[in-house]
Amino acid sequence: MSQRVEPRIRKAALVRGDTLTFRDAELDDAEFILSLRTDAEKSRYLSHVPNDLEAQRAWLARYAQERGQAYFIIEFKGERIGTLRLYDARGDSFCWGSWILKDGRPRHAAMESALMVYAYSVDHLGFTACHFDVRKGNERVIKFHERFGAVRVGATELDHLFQLDLTSIQAARRKYTEFLASSVEVAGLQ
Ligand SMILES: CC(C)(COP(=O)(O)OP(=O)(O)OC[C@H]1O[C@@H](n2cnc3c(N)ncnc32)[C@H](O)[C@@H]1OP(=O)(O)O)[C@@H](O)C(=O)NCCC(=O)NCCS
Repeated sequence: MSQRVEPRIRKAALVRGDTLTFRDAELDDAEFILSLRTDAEKSRYLSHVPNDLEAQRAWLARYAQERGQAYFIIEFKGERIGTLRLYDARGDSFCWGSWILKDGRPRHAAMESALMVYAYSVDHLGFTACHFDVRKGNERVIKFHERFGAVRVGATELDHLFQLDLTSIQAARRKYTEFLASSVEVAGLQ
């Protein structure tokens, strides 16, 4: 009898969608990441990151040696427009977050990047569910995920906890093909 291998989060050099590309984060992205994470408006519902370039570079150097998470820079037409991260695999479910898009992003970037996360994690990594938390009060993001079929399953003092099952993920991918036609192309899967 063949034993099913649990999915795991893997880094990839590149994940290509219809118009966006995810690129594995590098040391030289530290300044860009800090600019997003220290923007008062954008970081309002994110955990605090000190405004320290060397500390950010050190974090990225540690990240490069670690397994179990994938931190991506989101690019559009060769320009960095944001970040997102896959982490905390629990059995068949993965978590994603650290999702930030800079001002001036194209309007479709949020939809396409979310659909790319699901295409990558399901088609290439083998996950069949997703869990994540969203800060209480981050209504725009809560609404975004609920439109994908995310279900609120609990709360902590700070966060609402959500889950999304495979049926909902695949239904959203079929519903929103105008933002991501089918799947993603992956290069340099680690
Ligand atoms: C989280 C974040 C990346 C989302 O990106 P965003 O561009 O703000 O996402 P929006 O919900 O505004 O959606 C973008 C567009 O897609 C549209 N859209 C959203 N969901 C949609 C859906 N299900 N179907 C069709 N269109 C949809 C929106 O209406 C919007 O279009 P508009 O510009 O014409 O109004 C961004 O708000 C951000 O950087 N926030 C700060 C950091 C943060 O809080 N991150 C989340 C941590 S959990």
